[in-house]
Amino acid sequence: MRAARYDRYGGPDVLTVVDGVPLPPVGPTDVRVRVSAAAVGGGEVPIRAGRLRHVLRQRLPAGTGVDFVGTVAQVGASVTRTGVGDPVWGVMPHGTFGAVAEEVVVPQERLSPAPRSVPAQEAAALPASGTTALHALTRRVRLRPGRRLLVRGAGGGVGVIAVQLGAALGAHVTALAGGEHLPRLRELGAAEAVDHRATQVQDLGRFDVVLDLVGTRLASVRERLERGGTLVPLALDPTRPVRSALWVATGSLDRRTRVSAFSNDPSRKELEELSAMVDDGTITPVVSARLAMDDIAKAHRMLERGGVRGKIVVTP
Ligand SMILES: NC(=O)c1ccc[n+]([C@@H]2O[C@H](COP(=O)([O-])OP(=O)(O)OC[C@H]3O[C@@H](n4cnc5c(N)ncnc54)[C@H](OP(=O)(O)O)[C@@H]3O)[C@@H](O)[C@H]2O)c1
Repeated sequence: MRAARYDRYGGPDVLTVVDGVPLPPVGPTDVRVRVSAAAVGGGEVPIRAGRLRHVLRQRLPAGTGVDFVGTVAQVGASVTRTGVGDPVWGVMPHGTFGAVAEEVVVPQERLSPAPRSVPAQEAAALPASGTTALHALTRRVRLRPGRRLLVRGAGGGVGVIAVQLGAALGAHVTALAGGEHLPRLRELGAAEAVDHRATQVQDLGRFDVVLDLVGTRLASVRERLERGGTLVPLALDPTRPVRSALWVATGSLDRRTRVSAFSNDPSRKELEELSAMVDDGTITPVVSARLAMDDIAKAHRMLERGGVRGKIVVTP
């Protein structure tokens, strides 16, 4: 099958589409999915560039893309939850990439029925980013109506969903993002939308919950919390990844506020819950570009340049 791959770390041009990539065998609880659309996110750029290789183990050659939407092509002997021909969506096994491909093989727990109300080319923006936002705001913290939520990095793949979910849960949402995204973020439910290039973190108000999708200056970001508030830091500073990982790991030493980091590993239930939220109109996918798999280097170049709103969807 054809799939986007890179066999060395480097700039976007290390990514090429390769013919004859072998699929892993379909084990008893695995599902083979024919991919209709996949998505790539900004977090993959420093990984491909090799900047996170001391903190994230990655075997080369590697693929790109975590989220996929498609149709079940084959099921393992013990698969009970889905059948050939079902429309599904899901994420690659935890810590791996490779959804930008004609087909993927994943355990049945990594997928659920796809939402019915949006086409695959939009839904593909959601499985990884959407479950990350869902897990952060409903499991790591139980966001209550009236709570003040800051989403830092609100214009990106996870941020645009966190803003919508935060507003749907009744929180007062402040979106910190590039200036070009602010009107759209207000439409998506932000009560306040602030340009990160024109405002210092220390000039923002106080928050009960901060979802940080940037990874830099985490100590200043944490100072914005009310006593007893929670910082959910999901990004590593790509210029100092070891330092930011250590900062997060030692975050619980200061008990005035809480630090609750996680690496998204969604359950089938979370994927189902997200799918239902798309179908009931709570969550709208945000796609800034749709590209063919052969343009995968271009997709990474766009992410590297910045300013991408939501996700870039790639079709095989
Ligand atoms: N721990 C987990 O489970 C998990 C899950 C998903 C994602 N992540 C991580 O979370 C991060 C975000 O993921 P993503 O897919 O949403 O990436 P993304 O689409 O690249 O979004 C990041 C956003 O942050 C904005 N930004 C950059 N500097 C900023 C600043 N100083 N203040 C406010 N906003 C700023 C960027 O704007 P510009 O484009 O204008 O620069 C971009 O819109 C990545 O590092 C990713 O690896 C972690």
